[in-house]
Amino acid sequence: MIKSLPKIKRKILTFKEIIVSTLFWKKIYLQSNKPSDLIKSGFEVYPKLISESECFNIISEIRNFERAKSPPNDKNDNSIIDTKITQYYDIDEKITKVQISELGDRFSKIIENSLDNKFMVKRSACVYQKDDLDIDSTKRPLHIDSFTGTHKAFLYLTNVLKPGYGPYNYIKSSHRKYIFLKLINQFINIILNRPNNSMHSFCESLIPPRILTYEKGTVILANQTGLHKGHSPQNQGIREIIMFYYSIESKEKEVTHSS
Ligand SMILES: [Fe+2]
Repeated sequence: MIKSLPKIKRKILTFKEIIVSTLFWKKIYLQSNKPSDLIKSGFEVYPKLISESECFNIISEIRNFERAKSPPNDKNDNSIIDTKITQYYDIDEKITKVQISELGDRFSKIIENSLDNKFMVKRSACVYQKDDLDIDSTKRPLHIDSFTGTHKAFLYLTNVLKPGYGPYNYIKSSHRKYIFLKLINQFINIILNRPNNSMHSFCESLIPPRILTYEKGTVILANQTGLHKGHSPQNQGIREIIMFYYSIESKEKEVTHSS
């Protein structure tokens, strides 16, 4: 019992984090003269921002990289490969013929602009991911990534035109709304000993997520404080994406955002 006290304390602290985070984004929304979709809804979509040929070139280079790379059991190889999912971390450093880094910087500027230039946006990681069919065991249900306003950019390299292609799902405005439902969910997390960032028990049937089906080249920018998940079942098509991770820092010293 005594051993589990810090754990319980940590879980209770999450209540505070949920309240602070939700109110913080609500304040940003109310302070904005002309809220962007990213501020208003928590996500912003740029259909076909990247050309089809650019997507094709990126995929070709990734295939070249796969053919040339060391065996998967190499200790220096930080990629993850199993039969259903392939992930390469720091793909921007592994592939130099196409400038993936430049895309990441470009998206970072768009995020900065969409957040009214109130934040410094820094790219922290870049991952290529290929989901094969029937990977339901690896799909996470509804969750949040953090309470600190971490953002991500998803570049669809292949067409994700139907739910069965595993599109990104997001509950609109959930970064600044639904505080009561989030707290109920957290209470259930404590009882069922689920992770702090799990939103399994959020009323998904009442407030269904947006299923973001789009063509290749589409870029989705998202505030990962909002509720999201990967679509399941993925039983119709293989999805290839590049994910860019961003950390944000307030430019106004008086506005602090606790994590
Ligand atoms: Fe996530």
